[in-house]
Amino acid sequence: MTYTARTFALPELTGLSTKQIEVHLALYQGYVKHVNLIMEKIAAYKEADAEGNAFAIAEMRRRLGFEFDGMRMHEYYFEQFEGEKSGDPESALAKAAAEKYGSGEDFIAHIKEVAGTRGIGWTVVYYDPAGKTLHTAWVDDHQLGQLSGLPIILALDMWEHAYMVDYVPADKKSYVEAFLENVNWSVIEDRFAKAS
Ligand SMILES: [Fe+2]
Repeated sequence: MTYTARTFALPELTGLSTKQIEVHLALYQGYVKHVNLIMEKIAAYKEADAEGNAFAIAEMRRRLGFEFDGMRMHEYYFEQFEGEKSGDPESALAKAAAEKYGSGEDFIAHIKEVAGTRGIGWTVVYYDPAGKTLHTAWVDDHQLGQLSGLPIILALDMWEHAYMVDYVPADKKSYVEAFLENVNWSVIEDRFAKAS
């Protein structure tokens, strides 16, 4: 099978320009292309000479997590902007966030704190159904540090490509503010409802 890049019905965003989003969507499409390419190449290399190509095949297998998570994380990212912005301050997510972090405001403050981690990667909020709790983690690249099997509730792209059309790196806090302002929290609440 091959993957097809998704399209997203994005409203006009505040503090994130059309150009910024276009550049970022093109990058997402590149990940989809490379997931397909890796799977095709592994098959072709095996077919041609599995033993002789063993090293090349192993390297491509190592690379799949980067490309695949690069694809999937961007799908989590862009779909968070879709639809008419709404959110319920009394939602089950709000209650779980208050239980873990103190209040909705404290939850947002914690997301911002984790987003300030040096380097490129993602700030990801997960729900752990086994522990019945939220976790906010930093993920390097797209795949390093993911919490295995936990449903993703919120994905904040902290790669410089996510904001450098609009903000310089020293001003990445403004990007985080813009991201949070544009998130349609009903999407996040739906994810939480499914996960829990
Ligand atoms: Fe990105």
